[in-house]
Amino acid sequence: MKKPARTNHQIHDLLTHRWSPRAFSDRMVEEKKILAMLEAARWAPSSFNEQPWSFIIATKDNPEEYERLLNCLTEGNIRWAKFAPLLMISVAKLIFERDGKPNRHAFHDVGLAVGNLVIQARHLGLHVHQMAGIHVDKIRETYKVPETHEPVAAIAIGYYGELDQLTEDLRKRELAERARKPLEQFVFSGQWDRPHDLVKK
Ligand SMILES: Cc1cc2nc3c(=O)[nH]c(=O)nc-3n(C[C@H](O)[C@H](O)[C@H](O)COP(=O)(O)O)c2cc1C
Repeated sequence: MKKPARTNHQIHDLLTHRWSPRAFSDRMVEEKKILAMLEAARWAPSSFNEQPWSFIIATKDNPEEYERLLNCLTEGNIRWAKFAPLLMISVAKLIFERDGKPNRHAFHDVGLAVGNLVIQARHLGLHVHQMAGIHVDKIRETYKVPETHEPVAAIAIGYYGELDQLTEDLRKRELAERARKPLEQFVFSGQWDRPHDLVKK
């Protein structure tokens, strides 16, 4: 199944064809591809090159570890994320290694790393669905995440499966139209909330 973005301006195919599915196939993600996605994340830019990201990962071929990670997700997400053969949790380091001061851009940089991973995944024929619905305290406890770090999001990765494997309500969400705000709602000039001429309709 495809859900291409209906763009107003031409963008790269990998971006057009990225979307967040729920019907993952149980086909395992090849080790080479897992490493390529993590390598893509590794080469993201970051403030002071701090690289404040970490990833906890689990694959279905290690059922015990997979279940531990799956159980850190909210119930609503487990319903479909359980199909994905590869799960991750992104974690941000909140203080700078250089001076121990707060890193205000840690979440931003973790997002950039995941952005790289998502596009590399598409290039490899894989899909990614990120999740805010996680149990942060459970993740801390399960993986002994230090106080200086914060679990950010979970990430489900795999090949696309079949629409039929989803329950009716999830199938509806899978088929729902993808929508975005127009550029004029978030590209400003001169003053807050004043759209730049370039993006005015
Ligand atoms: C940080 C983040 C958290 C998200 N959390 C959830 C979530 O908990 N459950 C879910 O089903 N989708 C979640 N999503 C997916 C978004 O709902 C999805 O990206 C958005 O609706 C746009 O759809 P698209 O990715 O198919 O373009 C999340 C996405 C991001 C980037």
